[in-house]
Amino acid sequence: MANAASSPGPVEQPAHTDPRLALMDHALGYLFPAALRAVAALGVADHLTGGARPIAELAESVGADPLNLRRVLRLLATQGIFVEDDGGRFALTPSAELLRTDVPSSFAPAVLMITDRSFWLPAGELEEAVRTGAPAFERLFGMPFFDHFARDAETAAVFHAGMASTSDPENPVIARSYDFPPGAVVVDHGGGHGGLLLAVLREQPEVRGVLFDQPHVLQGHHLGELGADHRWSLVAGDFFAEAPPGDVYLIKRVLHDWDDEHCVRILRHCRRAASDRGRVLVVDAVVPLGNDPDPGKVFDLLMMSSFSGRERTRAEFESLFAEAGLRLTRVIPTDTRLSIIEGVAAG
Ligand SMILES: C[S@@+](CC[C@H](N)C(=O)[O-])C[C@H]1O[C@@H](n2cnc3c(N)ncnc32)[C@H](O)[C@@H]1O
Repeated sequence: MANAASSPGPVEQPAHTDPRLALMDHALGYLFPAALRAVAALGVADHLTGGARPIAELAESVGADPLNLRRVLRLLATQGIFVEDDGGRFALTPSAELLRTDVPSSFAPAVLMITDRSFWLPAGELEEAVRTGAPAFERLFGMPFFDHFARDAETAAVFHAGMASTSDPENPVIARSYDFPPGAVVVDHGGGHGGLLLAVLREQPEVRGVLFDQPHVLQGHHLGELGADHRWSLVAGDFFAEAPPGDVYLIKRVLHDWDDEHCVRILRHCRRAASDRGRVLVVDAVVPLGNDPDPGKVFDLLMMSSFSGRERTRAEFESLFAEAGLRLTRVIPTDTRLSIIEGVAAG
């Protein structure tokens, strides 16, 4: 038996390689988004635009408890969101700047949407979705996701402002990633407030656009930003029942909300309504095979817990297209987390 006193013993592992500690960190991980939500909801970043401030002063101006606000900011500062100086004053960092509500690229609405109860509560009940195959959303909120967000203007605003905040940075990049045929009628299908169509019309002077969504959503559209440029129109409707005539159907961050059967209905209507040169451009994450981390694998669980949707692999898009009478022609990566999955009528 080895002499315990002389034995070097097991090599001490740094904390992050001890699997128990790693599991502990994963289990505690939900507290970080909780802290992020708290500061976004309190509007802390808006109160630091004049420079670093002592916590007592900052807490008073946002209406918070100084000790608890400091504890929350201390955690966020570990990831570069806010910074504490040697004098105990907190200041903005580049990431915290994005939580200001008065900057054009504010990400505060995206944080408030993603951490909203509509995502947070069903995620806490993920086990139910895994067991039954159906999200806990309807049980918790008494109605499907999009009905919940259509209930009143305040609830709808959380979702649509959040979507715009998520989508605004990626829309111009996506618009530049595809050569739209000159003269084409581009339908932004389930286009929300029309951020992607706006970017396409700005990038591509020779196309015309149609924004298609539910009537209450179209009321908040942004296409008026084009001023005197009237190459666009609005069409209100239900994408499970119809699609407006067009040449190119942009379907961005829509199919991931739905199960295959609903997606096939959406795609079939587009195929039938499309002109001879028609094509569909699904803009979604394409989940890679293998074990490497990928944001699509995370978003996928959001789609599982609040919707009956999913993020898909290339092969899954191929079979979805085939069911809808379409042929997947190519997948175009973009400098965003989304790809353009192009399809044309099969045969
Ligand atoms: C996740 S959002 C995507 C919005 C936009 N494409 C974007 O990328 O920002 C899904 C959109 O589908 C729309 N939608 C949901 N159900 C619909 C239906 N039955 N008919 C038409 N649009 C619908 C919603 O109003 C919402 O604007």
